[in-house]
Amino acid sequence: MNSDIKEVLYTREDIKNIAEKIGSQLTKDYAGKNPLVICVLKGAFLFMADVVREIKTYAEIDFMDVSSYGDGTESTGEIKIIKDLDVPVEGRNILIVEDIIDTGRTLNCLVALFEHRKVASVKICTLLDKPDRREKTVKPDYVGFKVPNEFVVGYGLDYQGFYRNLPYVGILKPEIYKNN
Ligand code: PRP
Ligand code: MN
Ligand code: MG
Repeated sequence: MNSDIKEVLYTREDIKNIAEKIGSQLTKDYAGKNPLVICVLKGAFLFMADVVREIKTYAEIDFMDVSSYGDGTESTGEIKIIKDLDVPVEGRNILIVEDIIDTGRTLNCLVALFEHRKVASVKICTLLDKPDRREKTVKPDYVGFKVPNEFVVGYGLDYQGFYRNLPYVGILKPEIYKNN
């Protein structure tokens, strides 16, 4: 284990199992609906890869790069679209895949954006949900795990760009970020 990690919350095996479970539900829910599955970069890249491989029906894949946190541990409240989708979404069934819902600002903003673009439906699939921190309303449809109000990293989640490549989700030791 990485020495900056205080505790592992979810192992790769736990995440693989939950991705299979969510994927089989998605296979049923989206059969015949040709969903556009959207990965919210960068955090969602690993969970996205797990989930889409468990969707056993036709699905299109696209990517958006959205950022709110910059380099700190706190959201700045501003959502920046760094890369938009490549395809139009009007009339499409959208499934947004995220690594974590924290304050809810990112997804609240994305859902509003897709509604403005006149999608047929928009649903949310997230590996982690941290409901204690919610500031904006977001209703995730598929949730891997609910996490306590701790600074979690790994499996896509970063602190200052690091730890995304850890093959598990863990709690970062407070001494790593407390002086920033
Ligand atoms: C993180 C995370 C979610 C969002 C959740 O992304 O990946 O997208 O914050 O926080 P919120 O619910 O408070 O909006 P970040 O902005 O750090 O960009 P990244 O995915 O590139 O790390
Ligand atoms: Mn993100
Ligand atoms: Mg981040």
